[in-house]
Amino acid sequence: METILVLHGPNLNLLGTRQVDVYGLTTLAAIDDSLRELAAELGVEVDCHQSNHEGELLDRLHAARATHAGVLFNFGAYTHTSIALGDALRAIPLPAVEVHLSNVHAREAFRAHSHTASAAVGVVTGFGADSYSLGLRALIGYLRRTDG
Ligand code: DQA
Repeated sequence: METILVLHGPNLNLLGTRQVDVYGLTTLAAIDDSLRELAAELGVEVDCHQSNHEGELLDRLHAARATHAGVLFNFGAYTHTSIALGDALRAIPLPAVEVHLSNVHAREAFRAHSHTASAAVGVVTGFGADSYSLGLRALIGYLRRTDG
């Protein structure tokens, strides 16, 4: 069965209590649980990790290149700062989908720029926790269209 790497970046471990007006009340554990349920419906598995460290996110991407079918990621603030994560996505042969809980285009100007979006198949932004399920569906749809 295909496995999708799900990567959550810095501060997303605090979901549920962090700026709930912006990010909502859903915890990261609840997001991962619902992704696992949806993955089972879609006939895939998800492998979910959160890190506050850019290097660990890079290492996870590199390690996934031979074992996983795709990547669903929310790199948090690293989205707007990390050339290295964009390069890593371009260095591995896996399709990736970028997601954000908030609508990054309706917030501060610096959030409108992503170093990683151009390395992704597409971006889902602004639907709260639903951004993740929409992103997973989109990624699986992409894989099914392009597989063999
Ligand atoms: C975020 C948006 C980023 O700008 C922010 O730094 C985050 C969360 C989102 O999911 O809306 O940490 O990626």
